[in-house]
Amino acid sequence: MINAGIVTVSYISATILFILALGGLSNPETARRGNWYGVAGMTIALLATFFGVVTQNYTTLLIALLVGGSIGLLLAKRVQMTQMPELVAMLHSLVGLAAVLVGFASFMDPLTHLTGVELTIHDIETYVGILIGAVTLSGSVIAFGKLSGRIGGSPLTLPGRHLFNLGLLLAAIWFGREFVIQSAAGGGMTPLLIMTGIALLFGIHMVMAIGGADMPVVVSMLNSYSGWAASATGFMLSNDLLIVTGALVGSSGAILSYIMCRAMNRKFLSVIAGGFGTSGGKAAASSSADQGEVAPIDAQETAALLAAAKEVMIIPGYGMAVAQAQHVVNEIAATLRARNINVRFGIHPVAGRMPGHMNVLLAEARVPYDIVFEMDEINDDFPDVDVSVVIGANDIVNPSAQDEPDSPIAGMPVLEVWKGHTTIVLKRSMATGYAGVQNPLFFKENTRMLFGDAKETLDEVFKAL
Ligand code: TAP
Repeated sequence: MINAGIVTVSYISATILFILALGGLSNPETARRGNWYGVAGMTIALLATFFGVVTQNYTTLLIALLVGGSIGLLLAKRVQMTQMPELVAMLHSLVGLAAVLVGFASFMDPLTHLTGVELTIHDIETYVGILIGAVTLSGSVIAFGKLSGRIGGSPLTLPGRHLFNLGLLLAAIWFGREFVIQSAAGGGMTPLLIMTGIALLFGIHMVMAIGGADMPVVVSMLNSYSGWAASATGFMLSNDLLIVTGALVGSSGAILSYIMCRAMNRKFLSVIAGGFGTSGGKAAASSSADQGEVAPIDAQETAALLAAAKEVMIIPGYGMAVAQAQHVVNEIAATLRARNINVRFGIHPVAGRMPGHMNVLLAEARVPYDIVFEMDEINDDFPDVDVSVVIGANDIVNPSAQDEPDSPIAGMPVLEVWKGHTTIVLKRSMATGYAGVQNPLFFKENTRMLFGDAKETLDEVFKAL
């Protein structure tokens, strides 16, 4: 058992390391270092808690650490990059579950002898902690189901759903009052259980009402909730580090949700209220039937076009991740650059299936950071681009976001590739992207379709180059 002073110093060090980790993760060049700061912070936090805070039940704790750690290690080793959002959603649900369990344990703890205001404050902490935890738990399980395709992507829009939500909220407040009153008299379990049921139902309903295209916001929003749930757990356990770390996760998740909403031109409240981003509905306006013919191209012609270009823009999307084509993309970019062709990468904020997905893949393939640009930095440059190569991207280059007010992705900022001289789109078929809408870009006069698995076709292009 180490003394309280060392625990405090360790907790402060861990907090500083977590802040440095967040700072590091905001840039691909410092992300690896940021990760190590996080690992170091968490190791210090675990050791300080293990040797300084816990006083008994070491065996149970060790077994739990071993089982949890092994499952985590196995999952992290097994998971494909494209399954990351599902894994993250699942992990968020565990944070929610932990908050619920700690809440009930802390309520039932026979060693807590609080009275008066102290008891009321503790009750409110417990109630709020379980509430946020239960919403996070059920919401994340539904998000996992939607992201992994086990539950359909279209939003569940019940009639009067806003009233229903309001009713749930009012009921939760009323049962909260009941809980505090009954707890002072030695009871309170019934309102606590009822509220947990209400919160679980709210989480399910909230995420079921959100459509496929808005799922990125939901994932970061649940990330934020899981942070607040952890923070509430910190209050229940009087653990400063958990309060601060939870608040860091909660606020960074909220900021990320805001950034994602801005990237998709959505209002945060309307995403939460649900019903947007449907993968069915009015998408018919751009169905393939009335769009005309597409013009295919082969690998040799693609290589010739690239070799003759001065300005090349590469737009990676989810399909590049599926095909694992990032390494050959890097080789092609390097070959073209060696021939004095200006090659740049344009990254849409929600390309792929998680924030920064494309940046991670390009960094893995060692694409130099200084030729990778955010959408806002390069979107005005397309008129000067000779060849844009769209690799397994679809929704993020869909002009109907600008042209069709009824489209599920209407208003989402997109990369305006069609303004360039020639666009080559790599994909396997005419299938739609994540939002389930057809893409008029494929039918434009200056677009050529290079059909096939992106890795295989790019290997051929590279050989031809
Ligand atoms: P998508 O719109 O999902 O389009 C990906 C395209 O890649 C598909 O049309 C698919 O067409 C093609 N593809 C799949 N496997 C391929 C392969 N092996 N080789 C070549 N092509 C392949 O992707 P996007 O343009 O990156 O847009 C992202 C979408 O996901 C947005 O709607 C966004 O809102 C959503 N989303 C984003 C996130 C985050 S945080 N980034 C999280 C969840 C959802 P084929 O099947 O015809 O090949």
